[in-house]
Amino acid sequence: MDSLNTGITGLDEMLNGGIPKEHIVAVLGSPGTGKSTFALQFIHAGLLKDENCIYLSLEESEDTIVKTASIFGWDLKPYITNKKLVLIRLSAMNIKITANRVENDLPKLFESFGVKRLVIDPITLYEMLYENESERREHLFNFAEKIREHGITVVMTSETNNSNAYNSKFGLIEYIADGVIVLRQVRQTELRAVTTVIEISKMRRIDHSRDIKPYVISKNGIIVHSEAEVFS
Ligand SMILES: Nc1ncnc2c1ncn2[C@@H]1O[C@H](COP(=O)(O)OP(=O)(O)OP(=O)(O)O)[C@@H](O)[C@H]1O
Ligand SMILES: [Mg+2]
Repeated sequence: MDSLNTGITGLDEMLNGGIPKEHIVAVLGSPGTGKSTFALQFIHAGLLKDENCIYLSLEESEDTIVKTASIFGWDLKPYITNKKLVLIRLSAMNIKITANRVENDLPKLFESFGVKRLVIDPITLYEMLYENESERREHLFNFAEKIREHGITVVMTSETNNSNAYNSKFGLIEYIADGVIVLRQVRQTELRAVTTVIEISKMRRIDHSRDIKPYVISKNGIIVHSEAEVFS
């Protein structure tokens, strides 16, 4: 099966190469676990392979994204200039415009731009545009259908539900997604520093690792220590 590398050392091994082409993958994690870093790293890996990418941010401005990427040593500017990367910032404040752009403008861009990789960071803010569960489900499902029509591989990040690190805030995207990757902070004892661990809890159609592995956010981005054990 064709796959797209995440650019994250260790994780691509756990995935036996990368994210299967045209999968929608949800990356779940509590604040600060590295969801945006994951998303940026996935986009940067695509740009290195000359793939057209869209980074849709519902949180951070275009400038901030470029700045954050540069700290990790990823220079996005030439790709923006050469029209290989489109950064879009949507405000979760202006609900009507945001919903309209996601549901109508974005699919048009998919066609004209020939996008291979799409990031939505975080999808939670889009989900919050809808007040009740049935509306949210319907809009999310329709949006996922539009994405699937265009053969795009997607990473969407999501906050977790406060009581369960394996569930997204609204408990919806993990069912719509083809894959779910969970980032978690765990503490062996109260006085020991937190360890961050990664786990592939779902990845349709491939035989992936089910291990829980430690990862760090380094100056070059996320590194998964796939050879290490947690708390060894
Ligand atoms: N250059 C860096 N070097 C090392 N660690 C970093 C660097 N930049 C960020 N971090 C670590 O990554 C964390 C934030 O990562 P990131 O913004 O990707 O998380 P997030 O899950 O998207 O957070 P949020 O839920 O707030 O959106 C920081 O709290 C810090 O621990
Ligand atoms: Mg973030």
